[in-house]
Amino acid sequence: MTTETANPTLKEHDMTTNLTAEAAPTASVSPASVSPAALIAQESAHAAHNYHPLEVVVATGDGAWVTDVAGRRYLDCLAAYSAVNFGHSNPVLLAAARAQLGRITLTSRAFYNDQLGPFVTALAELAGKDMVLPMNTGAEAVESGIKVARAWGYRVKGVAPDQANIIVAAGNFHGRTTTIISFSDDESARADFGPFTPGFRTVPYGDAAALEAAIDENTVAVLLEPIQGEAGIVVPPAAYLPAVREITTRHRVLFIADEIQSGLGRTGSTFACDLVGVVPDLYLLGKALGGGIVPVSAVVGNADILGVLHPGEHGSTFGGNPLAAAVGLAVVKMLASGEYQQRATELGARLHAGLSALVGHGVVEVRGVGLWAGIDIDPALAPGRVVCEALLARGVLAKDTHGSTIRLAPPIVVSADDVDWAVEQLRLVLEDLAGAK
Ligand SMILES: Cc1ncc(COP(=O)(O)O)c(C=O)c1O
Repeated sequence: MTTETANPTLKEHDMTTNLTAEAAPTASVSPASVSPAALIAQESAHAAHNYHPLEVVVATGDGAWVTDVAGRRYLDCLAAYSAVNFGHSNPVLLAAARAQLGRITLTSRAFYNDQLGPFVTALAELAGKDMVLPMNTGAEAVESGIKVARAWGYRVKGVAPDQANIIVAAGNFHGRTTTIISFSDDESARADFGPFTPGFRTVPYGDAAALEAAIDENTVAVLLEPIQGEAGIVVPPAAYLPAVREITTRHRVLFIADEIQSGLGRTGSTFACDLVGVVPDLYLLGKALGGGIVPVSAVVGNADILGVLHPGEHGSTFGGNPLAAAVGLAVVKMLASGEYQQRATELGARLHAGLSALVGHGVVEVRGVGLWAGIDIDPALAPGRVVCEALLARGVLAKDTHGSTIRLAPPIVVSADDVDWAVEQLRLVLEDLAGAK
């Protein structure tokens, strides 16, 4: 069991406080009446096996750290795939949620609520656009973006009925719904889930010429991750996104940037597109927009595009609910200060400097930007999963992808010491694995 092997000295490691800490969160540690093994067995028996979790049972979290049911602490270097950019139990976000919990949490969009207006106004301003379509999960934002692009194609561009196509990139990850997996090239995401939704064309990621060649008169949109997250933090050539912007504008095709993982501070800027001076037509946002508290996602764009939707054509019972809007507004206000983007830039440089020193010592390549790193482990040394298990034993939570890649994406509130400490744990893990060969 991992809980037996985790380093007990971790308890003494400095607790990272949230950047804007005011009051300590009143997290209650669940009583150790049920063993971690029993909790894992319960989940395995009654939760569908669509995940393969590492063997740690988390009970509480604060800042960049989580604590398991046995009281051992771990540095969270996954941050719920960037949903926890602002840290666990962020006091500002918790305060916003608590205040709203005591007022009203759900009205449906059948009525107005007093939180949605301020939230969409602030988010539109942050993105430099004028309209927001609020949803809940990332996949819903992607689905919504696809529907908006198709409706725009038929109603504004004049594409013939049911002929619209959307261009996507090889290696993409945009979620798990039936339409979204229809344009995935990851067989494990698709096998036995067909038939699939037509209307998508896949081109190589990073190749602007191939993308332009795939455009025809029925192309309504190009849908891309500015940095491919699940593919292993793949950063395209610097000229790629500007070229996509130029090509899509010239062909009157919408550029939809899926910033669900890359956006909202992770890369050191509000949007990864900002890093190369690109403004897409639609931003797809999610994850960190809900502050790690509630699912909040959004499509953000201008009224000449989002305005194609009319009442009754699209919706979600929970989308834009007052609790989500209150938390989302608090998130947007935090980002508006620029403090988190600055921190991700500085700590990201530190993380990447530390990781690049491991290349040639069990690491083949490191990619990424800001506090986001994809690390290719030498496959001759160990699979990514084994490295993640060894990191877990040393008190670091990380996640493997595509066999031999691991990704690090700690909450942006992580301290410089913690960043150094995580890199050192990885160095020790690689040294141990090399020694065991
Ligand atoms: C780029 C991107 N788009 C969409 C999604 C789907 O988000 P969700 O899991 O909230 O549906 C993810 C999830 O990892 C993602 O990374």
